[in-house]
Amino acid sequence: TKCAAVVLAAGQGKRMNSSVPKQYLCIKDKPVLYYSLKVFQESFIDEIVLVTAESDIEYCKKEIVEKYGFHKVSHITAGGRERYHSVFSGIEAAGECSYIFIHDGARPFVTEEILERAYASVSEYDACVIGMPSKDTVKLADKNGFASTTPKRDFVWTVQTPQVFSASLIKEAYGILIRDEKRLLAEGMNITDDAMVVETFTDTKVKLVKGSYENIKITTPEDLKIAEAFLDKAGK
Ligand code: CTP
Ligand code: MG
Repeated sequence: TKCAAVVLAAGQGKRMNSSVPKQYLCIKDKPVLYYSLKVFQESFIDEIVLVTAESDIEYCKKEIVEKYGFHKVSHITAGGRERYHSVFSGIEAAGECSYIFIHDGARPFVTEEILERAYASVSEYDACVIGMPSKDTVKLADKNGFASTTPKRDFVWTVQTPQVFSASLIKEAYGILIRDEKRLLAEGMNITDDAMVVETFTDTKVKLVKGSYENIKITTPEDLKIAEAFLDKAGK
């Protein structure tokens, strides 16, 4: 079976407040994006589609893909305004494959073990997302900012990436989303992850699979410090 990865690096990183998009900032003298590409490159994944801003395609080709020898990267394709536009362009560019691993290029600490667990799960269920049980109690707020309900903590997960699907399923789900985008937006739909697209537009249930508490997304400046500490600990 063939597996493709879509690695997303087309965001602007507004919450990082840096002139260079966060995926290109360095932790320990390598760009954030390097770390996840390295894990996919050295894994059982057959093909990697890298999604970046149009204006960063050349930079990624020369300074990341060629420089570090990521020869599994078969395409570097332009993303879009929202994350889901970038995902759609990535899955369109992927070649013939059974499974697609969608990963945030801003999550440098994915591991081969996580990819293996996801592969085992997607082979059985066709759809899975990596996540972890929430450490904090979660409250749903009402529109005035008061706590309205408290979901049972055992049932609360925070989700990460990769989010992994059989290729036909994810193409079907994203096909519907893109086709009906105008209406869905008008109805107030806010798409924040890939599992949500599958949950909303197909009957397939998405399995939750444990990742790790280190599989963080670099989002705000303090995350860079945490990332450095993780690399120190790993002796990297
Ligand atoms: N992403 C993307 N295309 C977009 C938006 C996001 O490829 N239009 C990617 C980001 O590069 C990142 C991942 O999706 O790897 C997760 O998104 P997020 O953490 O929200 O990154 P940004 O959108 O760049 O950051 P922010 O929301 O703070 O602007
Ligand atoms: Mg974003």
